[in-house]
Amino acid sequence: MVGDRPAGGTDLPARTRAAYDAVAHDYADLPRDELAGKPLDRALLAVLAEQVQRRGGGPVGDLGCGTGRVAAHLAGLGLDVVGVDLSPAMLRVARRDSPGLPLAVGTLAALPLADGVLAGALAWYSVIHTPPALLSGVCAELRRVLAGGAPEPPERTRQVYVSAVREEHR
Ligand SMILES: C[S@@+](CC[C@H](N)C(=O)[O-])C[C@H]1O[C@@H](n2cnc3c(N)ncnc32)[C@H](O)[C@@H]1O
Repeated sequence: MVGDRPAGGTDLPARTRAAYDAVAHDYADLPRDELAGKPLDRALLAVLAEQVQRRGGGPVGDLGCGTGRVAAHLAGLGLDVVGVDLSPAMLRVARRDSPGLPLAVGTLAALPLADGVLAGALAWYSVIHTPPALLSGVCAELRRVLAGGAPEPPERTRQVYVSAVREEHR
């Protein structure tokens, strides 16, 4: 395995990037108001905000932020959010819709962030494109950028993920 590429050489990030670059404009309109109708999602995000703020605050990464709708929501909860995404076109929409939000192009497997810089991290429907064999690399990268590190996902979580995420989402 090399970086984001599984053995066999398929460049999955390039394929995923091309797909999101192609749909970025339409995607911006699809889920824009989705959180308004999802109280459980908002509750989860509120817990993240509360946990980060209770520990003194600090930057929170929205990793695979797409058009930045969740990053904007978290900023509205008082968090200091930085967004990272593979797709420059998705980030262009994010810049348009949420001017002033710090955003960077990068991959989950090699985040453009310094060691220990984040007080919290969120990967909201973004690891769905990562093949199971590459997940531990993404987790190691999360541990690297989080100030307090991060636990390994339990084996049961991996099994559920592997059976729940279908090939066409990768
Ligand atoms: C389903 S969208 C979700 C976007 C956003 N989190 C939201 O909920 O609106 C998945 C996003 O993850 C990004 N993504 C997928 N694989 C990635 C990777 N390996 N590194 C960085 N971003 C990735 C895609 O470019 C896309 O913007």
